[in-house]
Amino acid sequence: MIITVTMNPAIDKTIEIDRLVAGGLNRIRKVEYDAGGKGINVSKTIRELGGESIATGFIGGNAGNTIATVLEEKGITCDFVTVDGETRTNTKVFESSGAVTELNEPGPTITAAQMERLLEKLSGYAKEDTLFILAGSIPSGVDKEIYAKIIRLVHEKGAKVLLDADGELFRNALPAGPDIIKPNRVELEEYAGYDYRAATEELLKLARDFVAQGIETVAVSMGKSGALFVRDGYEAECPALSVKAHSTVGAGDAMVAALAYAWNNKLDNDDTVRLAIATSAGAVTTIGTKPPTRALVDELMTQVVIERL
Ligand SMILES: Nc1ncnc2c1ncn2[C@@H]1O[C@H](COP(=O)(O)OP(=O)(O)OP(=O)(O)O)[C@@H](O)[C@H]1O
Ligand SMILES: [Mg+2]
Repeated sequence: MIITVTMNPAIDKTIEIDRLVAGGLNRIRKVEYDAGGKGINVSKTIRELGGESIATGFIGGNAGNTIATVLEEKGITCDFVTVDGETRTNTKVFESSGAVTELNEPGPTITAAQMERLLEKLSGYAKEDTLFILAGSIPSGVDKEIYAKIIRLVHEKGAKVLLDADGELFRNALPAGPDIIKPNRVELEEYAGYDYRAATEELLKLARDFVAQGIETVAVSMGKSGALFVRDGYEAECPALSVKAHSTVGAGDAMVAALAYAWNNKLDNDDTVRLAIATSAGAVTTIGTKPPTRALVDELMTQVVIERL
């Protein structure tokens, strides 16, 4: 079973307008809403791939209810902790010129008691065949050690964790020993303290070091340069697929979803890599963070080239 944890979900609101006039009346041409946040994006992509997951984390207010409704409509089971205050709505205003203005709300502050409720929920789901996806930022009021704490909590019951976080959250979680990680190039450079663009060899070395420290699977995503996959006894580099790019936002989340689906379905190394590259390439062809269809992923999988290292 796959459990995605989104502590800081959001409604992604997309507005289309001819021209935004600051300080004036603006008439909106088109508006769309979707449930967002990294863990939620992962749940949506797993669903498209034909898998199942339970989405958890914190939701609040009308926006929170909307998120749960949208996910349930897509066939994703929700089990969120309800908090006071209103879940964020992040608004993107697209003008005809191509200019994009973003308006991001702060979201609710999480109390210690609310965090306890989430931890109890996670502990209840933790079993040997459970994979938790810890992805994205955390709301205010939450300690930056939280991912390490969750990893230790669920490991006690034999569950596994896939971590997709950056900066301090990533660094702090590593000593707890996540099982799968998917840092992108920039996240690894920051972690290693490089102030230059790292060569593939350097990224590979960092990935090997993580595996030597006990992390089972390290996928390093390098945007349109493809990805590296390192496990004990298996190392591969794959170029990215040549697709018509619409939006690369969420490509990493799609790769995380594929890695989780592959784990849950016990795919072998090569099939895991194929699915990860094809799903992330498919995500690039869609608008925003919309997941690719399974049919497109299947077609793209036939194009993946795996270079064993
Ligand atoms: N332009 C592209 N063309 C084809 N595939 C791409 C492109 N950009 C990204 N990908 C695929 O998506 C994977 C993940 O991309 P990337 O490294 O940008 O993730 P990320 O920075 O974590 O993204 P995010 O956090 O926004 O979801 C890459 O390893 C690659 O397989
Ligand atoms: Mg990412």
